[in-house]
Amino acid sequence: MDVPMIDLKAQYLSIKDEIDEAIQHTLNRADFIQGNAVHELEQNLAAYTGMRHVIGCANGTDALQLAIMALQLPKASKIIVPAFTYIAPVEVITFLGYEVVFCDVNTQDYNTSLSHIKAVFCEDIKAIIVVHLFGQLCVDIENIDAFCKSNNIALIEDNAQSLGAIKNIKRNSIVTTSFFPTKNLGAYGDAGAVFCNDEALAKKIRMLASHGQSKKYIHDAVGVNSRLDTLQAAILNVKLKYIDTYNHKRKVNAHYYQQQLSSINAIELPLITADHIFHQYTIIIKNGKRDELQIFLAQKGIASTINYPIPAYQQQAYLQDIELKNTGILCASVLSIPVFPELSDTQLSYICEMIKLFFATHE
Ligand SMILES: Cc1ncc(COP(=O)(O)O)c(C=O)c1O
Repeated sequence: MDVPMIDLKAQYLSIKDEIDEAIQHTLNRADFIQGNAVHELEQNLAAYTGMRHVIGCANGTDALQLAIMALQLPKASKIIVPAFTYIAPVEVITFLGYEVVFCDVNTQDYNTSLSHIKAVFCEDIKAIIVVHLFGQLCVDIENIDAFCKSNNIALIEDNAQSLGAIKNIKRNSIVTTSFFPTKNLGAYGDAGAVFCNDEALAKKIRMLASHGQSKKYIHDAVGVNSRLDTLQAAILNVKLKYIDTYNHKRKVNAHYYQQQLSSINAIELPLITADHIFHQYTIIIKNGKRDELQIFLAQKGIASTINYPIPAYQQQAYLQDIELKNTGILCASVLSIPVFPELSDTQLSYICEMIKLFFATHE
């Protein structure tokens, strides 16, 4: 039996009529740039998340870039970011000429905490980027927010993997997301968005995303061209109606794994909080056999991924001579297995059976 990491075709086929109609509607309107669907999506996302302002943009990396640009930080500012992350936040900090200060994460929930942040806090830190990884809200986010306020530094929340886990954010942070096709709310190409509760900030971000224009051909700031494509917005408007259903199915799948895999001593299961929406279901293989397990599963037709195999500070482009204990442990031992909403019961039980079979001889 073959089990992929995600089945986007199955998902498309389950909502095909609605998607086709939405695409056709946009084709008929031909409002391809900043069209009606984009404005509708921004309003729908504001209603869904409870955040007051939503600015669509080209992708989740741009969303992070726009968030940092809007802060107008002094040159040589430092920004804290977890070392166990997808690379995008690290990339944009560096690209914009700021200095990356890596912090560690917890092994239980893969997210950072105030104590990890305090351990690397230093002069010239002007912002913190918290990544809500794998669909799990960073449990310490309120304490981190309070710390940012008391130190007068900005907070950016990278919510690319956790849209839907976090609603009604009242914090003054800038929240970013990605609609990369494999995300819990995925477009059929690249797309992203920035969220905030502050009107002036939202206006600035919108301006920066559109060549720094305050009005057509009036450029008040150095901006970028980062627009959310109207066709993608039309697709996302349809899929947004299903995100809670999809997230629920992911949770059901994750709970099944928790029950089935709990008896295997070599596996540490993820911490499950009520709001976890399982963008990834990621386990820790404690006996050093992670890579062997991945090869075994591949031989049985089961896809898996290592999110993430190398600490960001060991990547050639972002090299730093540091060691963060938990990040090192996780990179060497994590494995994500399929958790997508369309997984069948047969596929789920096959995956568990194969993992049990592996550990029957590799405990
Ligand atoms: C945590 C995180 N941040 C940022 C991004 C960047 O998003 P995009 O690929 O849309 O640029 C991604 C994913 O792809 C991500 O997982």
